[in-house]
Amino acid sequence: MTALVLRTVAETAAWVDSLRRSGRGLALVPTMGYLHEGHQSLIREGRRRADVVATSIFVNPTQFGPNEDLSRYPRDLEGDLAKCTSAGAEAVFAPVPEEMYPPDFQTHVEVGKVSQGLCGARRPGHFQGVATVVTKLLGLFKPQVALFGEKDYQQLQVIRALVRDLNLGVEVIGMPTVREPDGLALSSRNAYLSPEERRRALALSRGMAAAQALYARGTRDTASLVDAARRELAAADLREDYVEVVDATSLTSLSSVTPGQSARILVAAFAGKTRLIDNQPIGG
Ligand code: PAJ
Repeated sequence: MTALVLRTVAETAAWVDSLRRSGRGLALVPTMGYLHEGHQSLIREGRRRADVVATSIFVNPTQFGPNEDLSRYPRDLEGDLAKCTSAGAEAVFAPVPEEMYPPDFQTHVEVGKVSQGLCGARRPGHFQGVATVVTKLLGLFKPQVALFGEKDYQQLQVIRALVRDLNLGVEVIGMPTVREPDGLALSSRNAYLSPEERRRALALSRGMAAAQALYARGTRDTASLVDAARRELAAADLREDYVEVVDATSLTSLSSVTPGQSARILVAAFAGKTRLIDNQPIGG
């Protein structure tokens, strides 16, 4: 059966209420749509962890900067519904922006340190938009479990901090990045890439693999690891936004990786106009 489509906050609240009364547990998978296997992996895992999975599909305007891709962000509600249904979602919340942000909307959620570097520094206001919409969605659905991808690694850490600090009482599950066979991380924004940009975009995963290989051979200073990744970006003519090796939880920059420490390399780069991000563990 096709997933139930919920368009308003009121009908969603009523659906959530009846689910609660039936005693069934809920997992929530928030998305911006144009779904791919990465999103579907979250829905499938949600099915394993709860009785019912709901997905939200909302291109959240408050997390886009003024010169970003809000107006051209890819959309395909029909296709998305089929993908939600086949992955096992029972309901799909797909509101219009006015439903989420009525004219008197005036509350914003700001997460501290963990949201400030990396993408937070390059995309002012982005994580405030993400934190606000995710708080709204968790408040509306009151799920037991919410699933997010490691593909957006800083976002995952921001949401973990938000849920902990505000006592939201939902279990946050981080899921591994789903990739194309050649290593490119799946992303709705890959739809923007020309075939030639698509080939060059592989330098992100190649660059991180180079850093991991250097680490495996004993290099511990992060400047060298970052350089190895940078060389791959430059060779593919990708414009770097940032490359950093950080502590995997706090996301603070590291000058060296100590054995046993959980570290992560995070990369953001432009292929033409398209900004791509990716990340991988280092050591640990
Ligand atoms: P969106 O980019 O649509 O991603 C929705 C969820 O899918 C996020 O948790 C993201 O990390 C995950 N995801 C994306 N690509 C993935 C991949 N290749 N493998 C595994 N998971 C992947 O992230 C957002 O939307 C928004 O910021 C949102 C959290 C919905 C708030 O608006």
